[in-house]
Amino acid sequence: MTTWARRMEQCRPERIKPSVSNASGNVRLAVGGLVGCAFLVGCLSVPTAGQETRDRPLIIAHRGASGYLPEHTLPAYAMAHAMGADFVEPDLVRTRDGAFICLHDIHLEGTTDVETRFPDRKRADGRWYAADFDLGEIRLLRAHERLKGRFPPGRSSFQVPTFEEMIELVEGLNRTSGRSVGIYPELKAGEWHRTEGLVMEESFLEIARSYDLGGEGPPVFVQSFEAGSLRRLRELGSKMPQIMLMGAPFPEDPSQGKAMLADIASFAQGIGPAKTILRRQPEVVKWAHERNLEVHPYTLRADDLGEGVATFEEELELYYSTYGVDGLFTDFPDRARA
Ligand code: G3P
Ligand code: CA
Repeated sequence: MTTWARRMEQCRPERIKPSVSNASGNVRLAVGGLVGCAFLVGCLSVPTAGQETRDRPLIIAHRGASGYLPEHTLPAYAMAHAMGADFVEPDLVRTRDGAFICLHDIHLEGTTDVETRFPDRKRADGRWYAADFDLGEIRLLRAHERLKGRFPPGRSSFQVPTFEEMIELVEGLNRTSGRSVGIYPELKAGEWHRTEGLVMEESFLEIARSYDLGGEGPPVFVQSFEAGSLRRLRELGSKMPQIMLMGAPFPEDPSQGKAMLADIASFAQGIGPAKTILRRQPEVVKWAHERNLEVHPYTLRADDLGEGVATFEEELELYYSTYGVDGLFTDFPDRARA
């Protein structure tokens, strides 16, 4: 068993019998067409995402296969699964009635038609907050891709899924494909949610335990930009592996950077640095490994290459081979897999 697999083993959450979610019915309906799509793309030919050994870096499908389909939609997650991702990433925020939905922002207007459907529901700052809407209202929204040049806005029809629906989609595809693809949820804006009276960590843990994520359920990594959220999960008894996200810049002073990593190692199993951090300071990978921390940089995009890189494959190679990362977030899991 590799060091990583041993660490995963230590991090398995308590085995708690999964409960049946009331989202099951909805998932079954939504997934009907998706499963067929997944098989068409060829998931059966892709080997199981290994949890016992690791002979290559993990491919984390960033917001699903968001290079091809609107981010954080069930079709984008299904496509990522079919394309051979090892983990699929949902970002999570809460609704007014406490549901966890898969959305990158606490705001809705970047990826839905909320402005036209609920024109009067913006706050004084001109933004539409998911925390001001009940799940039933979120269900009325049409989701679309945020980045220009990708899936055309207004075409076809997509919804904002709940976290439970996302988990059940991956669970179902794992069953039908024989693979063991994991879930890599990001708790968004924990501190902000707390001020809104929508504390995230306890309720998130309840859902994770009900699906036995990291145990009998799909493998898991929990990520956040807020150390407070990750520390809180540990206080609550979570044993799921955790990734501390980092935006640039990383401290330039090596002793400061190393001290920061030492602190992170007390509550996390890895870091998720912005890719520009590693371009500037590749030695961060070595320092993290010295602390037994994995390194999963974000975000590699075929349509938005890093500076000085000629092709996506060259960029992947740079992170995989030159920097020696343990995994990476990408919008194009098929290209990373290839
Ligand atoms: O979670 C890794 C990466 O997704 C962080 O950036 O803004 O895309 O959530 P963001
Ligand atoms: Ca994210």
